[in-house]
Amino acid sequence: MEKKSLKDIVVMGKKVLVRVDYNVPMDKAGNITEDTRIRATLPTLEFLLAQNAAVILASHLGRPKGAVVPEFSLKPVAERLAKLLGREVLFANDCVGPEAEEKAKALKGGQILLLENLRFHKEEEKNDPEFSRQLSVLADVLVNDAFGVSHRAHASVEGITKFIPAVAGFLMEKEILFVGNTVANPVAPFVAIIGGAKVSDKIGVIENLLSKVNTLIIGGGMANTFLAAQGYQTGKSLVEADKLELAKSLIEMAKKRGVNLLLPVDVVIAEKFAADAAHKAVAIDAIDPEWMALDIGPKTAEIYAKALEGSKTVVWNGPMGVFEMDAFANGTETVAKAVAASSATSIVGGGDSIAALEKVGLAAKITHISTGGGASLEYLEGKILPGIAALADK
Ligand code: 3PG
Repeated sequence: MEKKSLKDIVVMGKKVLVRVDYNVPMDKAGNITEDTRIRATLPTLEFLLAQNAAVILASHLGRPKGAVVPEFSLKPVAERLAKLLGREVLFANDCVGPEAEEKAKALKGGQILLLENLRFHKEEEKNDPEFSRQLSVLADVLVNDAFGVSHRAHASVEGITKFIPAVAGFLMEKEILFVGNTVANPVAPFVAIIGGAKVSDKIGVIENLLSKVNTLIIGGGMANTFLAAQGYQTGKSLVEADKLELAKSLIEMAKKRGVNLLLPVDVVIAEKFAADAAHKAVAIDAIDPEWMALDIGPKTAEIYAKALEGSKTVVWNGPMGVFEMDAFANGTETVAKAVAASSATSIVGGGDSIAALEKVGLAAKITHISTGGGASLEYLEGKILPGIAALADK
């Protein structure tokens, strides 16, 4: 069912509660180290402000587990947002209760108010109906732009929609369009590249994508488990011993479905897990028993890049190796460049893949970079996300 978005309702002069996911990384001094999630909501906020709506923002930050933990205050976010918007952002020290209600009531059209961390109340994660109601009294309507938390049935995401209507913000709409619809109904040839350390984190994604893709490319630490499952000697590489049978069954599933499953043909092995470790590229049947694979090899990287040629839909989630260390970054960077160079609709998720694209300066070439971590993965698994299900139908 298609969901209503911001453009399907009248917001002119209304009080609008916008659920955002400003769960951004911060250093120990409380400085925001990466603000993509804040910037990604600007189109929604600018539209609402231009419509003279009074905008009340609600978000979580970290996992304070129902306690007021100062290091998880959203105050630094209010300052960053004010800079990005070039206007004042008011702040309420609590997300519900008298201060929030008074400040929301006094808020005029064209003004913006950020509420303190929702998760300072344990009722948020419990999806408590009374807490949902208290949030709902602040506004006439909920605009949900918090795709990153839409896999959580929390009060500000799901419960609140029982009290006020909820529609998708522009960011949420894009995530539904690309991570949801494009992947559910892909234009062929569809190539998915899945990496990261562990196959156990991505079982659901791989299983779901095997019913949709023409080519599935596996890289990163998880590829070792597939190699070990095929009987290769993987030395000291990270292998999930309890997932060997699963890897075998995924290889079988790919065969049955006629999916072209690509696994490494060579790897970069290192003497130890360190940036300055001795390392070399070897074929997968020549892994030294005392060494470990930390990247796909150059031949594999070339094969993977070539596999993207002519594709119409590409999904990439997870690095091909330990790309934070230069010696083991070639696989991920080669894939990043190939995804960026492809004329396919490209959808990238996962902090590491995005960081790699930024490192090579090609993030702008991607059709859609998802702001979701766990939410993107669950969406790629084909799951129904409670925060999306709760939005009003068109
Ligand atoms: C995220 O960063 O993935 C979202 O903000 C959700 O956070 P959570 O895993 O703490 O619910």
